[in-house]
Amino acid sequence: MFSNLIALPLLITALTSCLAQTTHTITVGTNGTKTFTPTDIQAAIGDVVNFQFVTGNHTATQSTFAVPCTNNGGFKSGFKPASANDIATFAIMVNTTDPIWGYCGQVGHCQAGMVFAINAPETGNKTFAAFQSAAMSVSAGDGSNSSSSGSGTSAGANGSSSSLISSAGMSTGTGAASSTAASAGSASTLLPCSASMVGALLAGFTWLL
Ligand SMILES: *[C@@H]1O[C@H](CO)[C@@H](O)[C@H](O)[C@H]1NC(C)=O
Ligand SMILES: *[C@@H]1O[C@H](CO)[C@@H](O)[C@H](O)[C@H]1NC(C)=O
Ligand SMILES: *[C@@H]1O[C@H](CO)[C@@H](O)[C@H](O)[C@H]1NC(C)=O
Ligand SMILES: *[C@@H]1O[C@H](CO)[C@@H](O)[C@H](O)[C@H]1NC(C)=O
Ligand SMILES: *[C@@H]1O[C@H](CO)[C@@H](O)[C@H](O)[C@H]1NC(C)=O
Ligand SMILES: *[C@@H]1O[C@H](CO)[C@@H](O)[C@H](O)[C@H]1NC(C)=O
Repeated sequence: MFSNLIALPLLITALTSCLAQTTHTITVGTNGTKTFTPTDIQAAIGDVVNFQFVTGNHTATQSTFAVPCTNNGGFKSGFKPASANDIATFAIMVNTTDPIWGYCGQVGHCQAGMVFAINAPETGNKTFAAFQSAAMSVSAGDGSNSSSSGSGTSAGANGSSSSLISSAGMSTGTGAASSTAASAGSASTLLPCSASMVGALLAGFTWLL
């Protein structure tokens, strides 16, 4: 009984954070431009950031603030060529309140200012503007290393049907993988809190009560 009293708040916390999760969409290549839209977002731990590659052949690749156009070992979508009838997607889960910096690994794009930030400070030395400025001063050759090669987050040749959640470290569990194929125009909602997880939590409640 005593352990139940401890477990109950934990279940409530898990369920609450699960249901409160937000999905943020960043459009990549709007109107054929070398841009992330929006470029600079705020997201809470547990939120999903879903990149939608609508034109061109871009990546969403993590870097540090200090070295803007090089993968820091964090997430990388691989190249996501957009096609007319299939929007490629890539999703990450935010697992930190620290700023997350990223760029497009296509040759020359980072240096052209194609970068984004999640939870960048709005003031001080490490703003999004400062990051973008630093990226644009990286010499052109340096970007080639970027994102392309590598294991991990394979870019599915099948575009949106293979959208995946690569967490910035945090395992997203089996529920995360159950993405729905996004047909053009509709954002797929990737819910790490899968229905089964919610069900399990609810079952836990029932058992406790
Ligand atoms: C994209 O192009 C359309 C048509 O020119 C324009 O209405 C729209 O504002 C553009 N979107 C952005 C984000 O620039
Ligand atoms: C996307 O860009 C990469 C790197 O430049 C290239 O290897 C790949 O062939 C391109 N894909 C398409 C469909 O253009
Ligand atoms: C921020 O930039 C200013 C001006 O370049 C510099 O004096 C200061 O030391 C920097 N602060 C930090 C924390 O790096
Ligand atoms: C990629 O980066 C590594 C170190 O980060 C460097 O040793 C290597 O030469 C780079 N390769 C290319 C092709 O730029
Ligand atoms: C793409 O889809 C086709 C048919 O659905 C399948 O045969 C192929 O293996 C898939 N490719 C990848 C990389 O998933
Ligand atoms: C968050 O992601 C970073 C980057 O992948 C990883 O180093 C860190 O361990 C993760 N933190 C947690 C709490 O999962």
